[in-house]
Amino acid sequence: MRTATARAHPNIALVKYWGKRDEELILPAAGSLSLTLDGFATTTTVSLDPSAAEDRFTLNGAAASPTQSERVTRFVDLVRSRAGSSSPAVVRSRNEAPTGAGLASSASGFAALAVAAATAYGLDLDRADLSRLARRGSGSATRSLVDGLSIWHAGDDAASFAEPIDGPAMSMVIVTVDAAEKAVSSREAMRRTAATSPYYAGWVDSTAHSLREMTTACRAGDFTRVGEITELNALRMHAAIEACEPSIRYLRAGSVAVFDAVEQLRADGIEAYATADAGPNVVVISRPADAAAVAERLGGLGAVRVVGAGPGARLIPEEDCA
Ligand code: DP6
Repeated sequence: MRTATARAHPNIALVKYWGKRDEELILPAAGSLSLTLDGFATTTTVSLDPSAAEDRFTLNGAAASPTQSERVTRFVDLVRSRAGSSSPAVVRSRNEAPTGAGLASSASGFAALAVAAATAYGLDLDRADLSRLARRGSGSATRSLVDGLSIWHAGDDAASFAEPIDGPAMSMVIVTVDAAEKAVSSREAMRRTAATSPYYAGWVDSTAHSLREMTTACRAGDFTRVGEITELNALRMHAAIEACEPSIRYLRAGSVAVFDAVEQLRADGIEAYATADAGPNVVVISRPADAAAVAERLGGLGAVRVVGAGPGARLIPEEDCA
């Protein structure tokens, strides 16, 4: 039986991906830039099982929901068609982060699945190919193939993968204000933003511009400018989302309290900048030397965890993911 295990980590975008120009190929409307983390890993084992009637997918030891299983099977179908195989697979996955709470479990999930499935089915893919493959599972997974800071290019299927980019050292303080599953998935909310938000076109244009500025700031190692662009880009994304019909508000009172506290930290001379994905939890970036002070100041507003730059998805020796 052919089997492979891979581990991947989520990434947090400093310039966000929000909107597709192709739903089938998952091509983004604009490029994005993120940091792959060193915590909240997903570990996934894919084992071919030619005698099975269909794929089986377990998540944290329990059978996954029909929706999750379908998404995994659709992804493995892609790998099977490239490998010329019809064998079903057993996919066992373990997540350290709460699934669906905006901590990008789909990014680490599909990045780990891409590496494990490609290997188990015998595909010989380089890192860019694996990044393009992971993209078909979830857009943000494209970037979790890369160590540390990564830029995901917009473009056609061949050009749309992630690559490493240099930048200033930074830590991320994750403030979990609510670990519950989010009400509207990012996939659905993205669609709704593109279809109904009057700010969508402005969001896409401004993001392309922010990405150019962010690339320059990263290459210059300019932490302050990286932080400023990060916070502004997140607030613009949430403004575009809130302007949907019907409206979606991911930021709750507890999230706004973290943005307020971060503003106060800056007023007190500690440089910190906030961002948030499609959920209520807030991620605060700081210089590594300030991370402990930032975490201490934000500790009253939610569960805090400090993380840094981590490795892109890779194979690991087999271990028990059941
Ligand atoms: C807010 O990658 O989950 O985290 O491509 O539809 O699977 P799909 O969406 P997904 O969206 C992530 C959105 C975000 C921003 C980001 O990570 O860039």
